[in-house]
Amino acid sequence: MRAFVCYPTTLTILLGLLVSPFLQAKSVTVSSPDGKIQVQVNDEGGVPSYQLTYNKQVLIENSPLGILFAKAPSLSEGFSISDSEISNTDQTWTQPWGERKFVRDNHEELNVEWTRAGKAGVRFNVCFRVFNDGIGFRYEVPEQGAATELSITDELTEFRIASSENATAWWIPSRGWNRYEYDYNTTPFLDVDRAHTPFTFKTGSGVHMSIHEAALVDYAGMTLDQKRGGTLKADLTPWSDGTRVKVKPGFVTPWRTVQISPDAKGLLNSDLILNLNEPNKLGDVSWVKPGKYVGIWWGMHLAANTWGSGEKHGATTSETKRYMDFASKYGFDGVLVEGWNVGWDGSWYDNGDVFSFTNPYDDFDLKALSDYGKQKGVRIIGHHETSGSVTNYRNQMGDAYDLYQDMGVRQVKTGYVADGGKIKRVDEMGVARHEWHDGQFMVGEYLHSVTEAAKRKISINTHEPIKDTGLRRTYPNWIAREGARGQEYNAWGSPPNTPEHTAVLPFTRMLSGPMDFTPGIFDLGFNGLDAENRVRTTLAKQLSLYVVLYSPIQMAADLPKNYEARMPAFQFIRDVPTDWQDSRALAGEVGDYVVFARQARDGDDWFVGALTDEEPRAVSFSTDFLEAGRKYEAQIYRDGENADWLSKPYDLVIETQKVQKGETLNFKLASSGGLAIRFKALPQ
Ligand code: NOJ
Ligand code: CA
Repeated sequence: MRAFVCYPTTLTILLGLLVSPFLQAKSVTVSSPDGKIQVQVNDEGGVPSYQLTYNKQVLIENSPLGILFAKAPSLSEGFSISDSEISNTDQTWTQPWGERKFVRDNHEELNVEWTRAGKAGVRFNVCFRVFNDGIGFRYEVPEQGAATELSITDELTEFRIASSENATAWWIPSRGWNRYEYDYNTTPFLDVDRAHTPFTFKTGSGVHMSIHEAALVDYAGMTLDQKRGGTLKADLTPWSDGTRVKVKPGFVTPWRTVQISPDAKGLLNSDLILNLNEPNKLGDVSWVKPGKYVGIWWGMHLAANTWGSGEKHGATTSETKRYMDFASKYGFDGVLVEGWNVGWDGSWYDNGDVFSFTNPYDDFDLKALSDYGKQKGVRIIGHHETSGSVTNYRNQMGDAYDLYQDMGVRQVKTGYVADGGKIKRVDEMGVARHEWHDGQFMVGEYLHSVTEAAKRKISINTHEPIKDTGLRRTYPNWIAREGARGQEYNAWGSPPNTPEHTAVLPFTRMLSGPMDFTPGIFDLGFNGLDAENRVRTTLAKQLSLYVVLYSPIQMAADLPKNYEARMPAFQFIRDVPTDWQDSRALAGEVGDYVVFARQARDGDDWFVGALTDEEPRAVSFSTDFLEAGRKYEAQIYRDGENADWLSKPYDLVIETQKVQKGETLNFKLASSGGLAIRFKALPQ
């Protein structure tokens, strides 16, 4: 190979090219370590293509690859395979925080070089990595010709799904005004229009697949357009000038990924996305702290408080102290404060240019609160809402992060509330341009905030983000993000999240990485249980979310008084960790239910979370995950006999039971109900 040998390689074997006697086309095949997945790459008809089989069944039919440029030779037709190389990797790496401490990366890699006949020098590589649970591939285009800048006008990657007429898909539309915040559609595959990734579907034979991407850096986000029935084509989100991607010669694309599992739960136990990202670039990240927080937040969504100044202003010094007292008393390490800075008055989502990220409102004393927090062992979690005016934010970013660093702030929640396609960027000429949240410009902008924050030992929790593609491995201070409908929709009632929503999320949005969903609303019917805007779950289901929806930072999102009114249930939120030694999805079906078990990081306790959609159902699971010979006290928070989300959401039973490894536990989940268990390891 002449360029771009994929990292890391441990063993290199040169594979002979198989020459088809009839068409003179070449093909090269690579299999997963367990032999179940096979990728066959070929140059039939001069078109770079690949095909994917699983257990000898074709899942992706021969599908084209390629890239088109505005003013450079296209990488699409007239190419033949000129070289290829196979290597393998089997290594285990450690996550500073995450769903599991040790991650195994076991894959076979095939790097294929294509060259165009008659145009010496036009060549590119595609690197495939084949794991036991799916594949990733990316384009690696070396410098060639005289161009110093390249404009990509299209990426030709397709996924031609076999037997798509029998498949069911779970998806949200792309290029819409509400970014990633749509209810998930469950439709026949052929009814999919243009979708965001992760895009999850189930074939007629029950194989579950999810198409996404990994390591999205300096490139446009990939959405999937069903051009012809069964064919999903990469549709890169464009710049405001119509260009898809602007690159310097000698570039690599993000990895295009396909996760594959014989059942739904297998998708949840995959580390493929993380494995395709580069290792930590930040060095010592012991300053990145998982944890739990409360905050001045839900009151604004309920319209009991305001972000802006005035009588109902939420972010006052005294209110923040009250939250700090509460946090300190019950073991939370952070207090989020939204609405502390000048710029919220009036219609804040239309006025992003007037936000100051260094000037507090007069009734908010940042220094005094930073000192007060120190006494209490609690830190402020900072907040920067940009309303999509990213140039205004960029201009103040250094000063803003410096200020927070001086005040001991270790985590900042950022926000980019603006309709899709309406991010405001002021270009070099001073002209306002409007960009998408998932176009190349914003991909760079989000990462810029993360790397600037890292310089100050600050972690970033992005709301209205670019989708996650596993960059937390490379930048572990990118601690969480939103990127789907969160709890806030239940306050607004526009409409609230469906009972099914959190039974879909684990199999779709959560495959990309942690989500700051902000669970734990205890006053489920703040306007009465009959109101449109309410939380459509039982209380037990709110508790289950802390285990089911992974995030290294979890909020106890409700008002302090609502926790103090239900202290026994609140105990689970106090006990549940946010950083794990191991995580295992035990059972589930997309959109129906899910059961997760997770072990506390460097601890002995295990936790289980289970939830269901609108259907009440029985779940049972084995305690095989527990340590052999050890006794545990299971502290169980379950739906009561009469519980249902609509009329009896507070019917919660809290009980304990002694358990050991190898038992089968059975529970009933109510309509939109849940289950949360702490398996407390007893002294040996
Ligand atoms: C939307 C965020 O998701 C929410 O958490 C935040 O409170 C508001 N924007 C204001 O920044
Ligand atoms: Ca949001």
